[in-house]
Amino acid sequence: MLNGRKILLIIGGGIAAYKCLELTRELRKRGAEVVPVLTRAAEEFVTPLSVSALAGQKVFRDLFDLTDEAEMGHIELSRAADLLVVAPATADLMAKMAHGHANDLASTVLMATDTPVLIAPSMNVRMWQHPATQRNLATLAADGITAVGPNEGDMACGEYGPGRMAEPLEIVEAIAARLAAGPLAGKRILVTSGPTHEPIDPVRYIANRSSGAQGTAIAEALAALGAEVRFITGPATARRPVGVTITEVETAAEMAKAVADALPADAAICAAAVADWHVVGAGASKIKKDAKGTLPSLTFAENPDILATLSAPGPNRPDLVIGFAAETDDVIAHATAKRTRKGCDWILANDVRPETGVMGGTENAVTLISAEGADPWPRMTKTQTARKLAALIADQLGQQTNKTDKIQ
Ligand code: CTP
Repeated sequence: MLNGRKILLIIGGGIAAYKCLELTRELRKRGAEVVPVLTRAAEEFVTPLSVSALAGQKVFRDLFDLTDEAEMGHIELSRAADLLVVAPATADLMAKMAHGHANDLASTVLMATDTPVLIAPSMNVRMWQHPATQRNLATLAADGITAVGPNEGDMACGEYGPGRMAEPLEIVEAIAARLAAGPLAGKRILVTSGPTHEPIDPVRYIANRSSGAQGTAIAEALAALGAEVRFITGPATARRPVGVTITEVETAAEMAKAVADALPADAAICAAAVADWHVVGAGASKIKKDAKGTLPSLTFAENPDILATLSAPGPNRPDLVIGFAAETDDVIAHATAKRTRKGCDWILANDVRPETGVMGGTENAVTLISAEGADPWPRMTKTQTARKLAALIADQLGQQTNKTDKIQ
């Protein structure tokens, strides 16, 4: 699966560095060549000897190692690779990358390269959630760097939350997806997913039952065909897709902004169940019961329609815009009208009455509505639905120039 591919593995100084030994083994088992670079801090967690033994290669450690410079300069080191993988990507390494520092071998190699880069972040949950790290992550995503993980779970520091490095096999999958010379290689595709949460006050919100499972499956199916996927998700319960760039949002307004920031794109798939309205004046104070038992009343205002905005003609309109229509009655008629109203190219209509088990379930039964009419697909798993859709998208985009190439 990775036969002959060359991975430059930059190991950062975090407790998860030990997982890179297993990662190296798994990559080599699949035929990849692994060239390891260790930061000084990484050497506190794994020894160059064990990394070198598993990689079957010399470990590169020092920018000023003259032998290395004579044999292979740091520029050559990064250019010779098919992919640069940073694991664990510590908060410090991410900050260096986002700001263009080049003061050791790892950061210099990362600056000197035009090879794709994948990071596997790993750090304490508070460091991960710190605005500085989230800002750096957004900068790296805008630079085209994809991330795998971090996962949520118990952390070595005793806390719980997002920050654990993705497992070696997840990283292998993300590497394979990033390297896939599939029919969507070179295409950038946006996927929105999950519900949105619209605050009523600081402690209450309005939500819906979308799990985000179909969006995750679509993102992974597109990445498996080689697409560079920008995945923008509300607070979904489904696990996050592997091998894509993820932006987490809460409200429809935040999702609309994240989508606008992620353009241009060759295609966009709006799988999110975006709330149609938000509560006006959701303030900083909790709504309290009063002694007279007066019931609160909420005033709603309409949210931006992300799908309609993406579909509007203009230089940034993706070549293919796809929406979903979650309906409970007259599914095809409503979805057909929705396609025209929103101006998108395709609509995947599905019946979300509770008895269908679609919302929150593992299966879906969709009808593809396009200018050519309605094409009902058999009921199948969300993964199969996603693969069928990804293949159709690849066919459709097949002959077109990359939007991202056209614009940059
Ligand atoms: N959508 C969106 N932004 C919104 C609302 C919906 O991008 N503010 C997208 C969804 O991601 C989906 C499609 O529009 O792809 C249809 O969503 P749906 O909720 O079914 O449609 P509505 O616009 O709510 O229409 P209706 O009220 O008639 O069901």
